[in-house]
Amino acid sequence: MTTLTVPQTDSVHAGVADAGIHLEIAGLTKRYGQFTALRDIDLAIREGEFVCFLGPSGCGKTTLLRAIAGLAPQSAGRIVQCGRDISRLPPQARDFGIVFQSYALFPNLTVFDNVAYGLRNRRDERHLMRQRVAELLALVDLSGSEGKYPAALSGGQQQRVALARALATEPGLLLLDEPLSALDARVRVHLRSQIKALQARLGVTTIMVTHDQEEALAMADRIVVMNHGVIEQVGTPAEIYRHPASAFVAEFIGSMNFLDCRPEGGHGLRLGEQRLECAAHHCADHDRVRLAIRPEAVELCARDEGLSARVDHVEFLGAFLRVSLTLEACRQTVTADIAVRDGERLGLTPGVTLGVRLPAEAVRLFPSGEVRA
Ligand SMILES: Nc1ncnc2c1ncn2[C@@H]1O[C@H](COP(=O)(O)OP(=O)(O)OP(=O)(O)O)[C@@H](O)[C@H]1O
Ligand SMILES: [Mg+2]
Repeated sequence: MTTLTVPQTDSVHAGVADAGIHLEIAGLTKRYGQFTALRDIDLAIREGEFVCFLGPSGCGKTTLLRAIAGLAPQSAGRIVQCGRDISRLPPQARDFGIVFQSYALFPNLTVFDNVAYGLRNRRDERHLMRQRVAELLALVDLSGSEGKYPAALSGGQQQRVALARALATEPGLLLLDEPLSALDARVRVHLRSQIKALQARLGVTTIMVTHDQEEALAMADRIVVMNHGVIEQVGTPAEIYRHPASAFVAEFIGSMNFLDCRPEGGHGLRLGEQRLECAAHHCADHDRVRLAIRPEAVELCARDEGLSARVDHVEFLGAFLRVSLTLEACRQTVTADIAVRDGERLGLTPGVTLGVRLPAEAVRLFPSGEVRA
């Protein structure tokens, strides 16, 4: 008999201690006419933290970043940076550097003048400025490019210049809006590790917007998962992946199997004809729930040692096998990612019937119909 556990509901706004908070957002709402792009956002970001805003297109990531920068002032709510209420300050009075998705370099200015732009506004002395630009270009691996024009640089190089420009005035907060999404895959992966290393070295509090979950998992200290203008969950990449707070988060991050089932008593679930024992839950027998489990957590075994299932197809993905099965008790499909060696041992071929185990610690339960993507 398979044992299941009922998940604890994670707090949507992961609590952070007051000490060392760089940015605090409270009750922030942004409306465009009748449309509410952000609804009652609460979020605290620690000093030196790398935070990613992650969510599907149109969920409000850029709007939140622009509200923080003062470029799209909020309709309601407060933004406090280092203890100072910046809610009503214009962008130029706020302390941030920003990089946009498309290279927003001035095409008619050299790399030197692009990077020095913010420094000129501060009327820095010429020799100090030259020294600072050289330092910044070294930081982004572009030493010696001072005299080039943006058109003579690759996309990745242009984004590195944009990064140097954003960091020129040593801002307390670095805002990055999909800085990698216009680049090809190989450059993107390389630049992502460069940005991460640079951020760690400088210790600058950073918010990066992305809709690429892999990018967020690889780079962020904490991820803010957004959907339809609200925060669904805040947590470290491991927390978000292992303990998604909602079916939306479970489905948006990584791959997930969902199986419709019915609670049965306080300690059981019914999956078609099969009853599964599980840890105590509070669902009533007439509720409908969805059991969620990651493909890599599904175990395959001999037919009589688990839920009986028929193999539909087997996909060889190099490092592992992706196996699609239909559970005989409920006619629902489940995907299992298993080691190639285990697949050989079990003699996996389409049409074969074997056992499926759903380990208790890997199972989450969500109310049915919760996904609103
Ligand atoms: N200036 C504007 N006027 C009216 N509606 C807007 C404006 N800017 C954004 N919106 C709307 O607000 C919502 C959130 O937009 P936003 O640009 O923040 O999304 P996003 O999460 O950054 O999406 P993407 O991943 O596509 O960049 C969208 O529905 C968008 O159409
Ligand atoms: Mg956007």
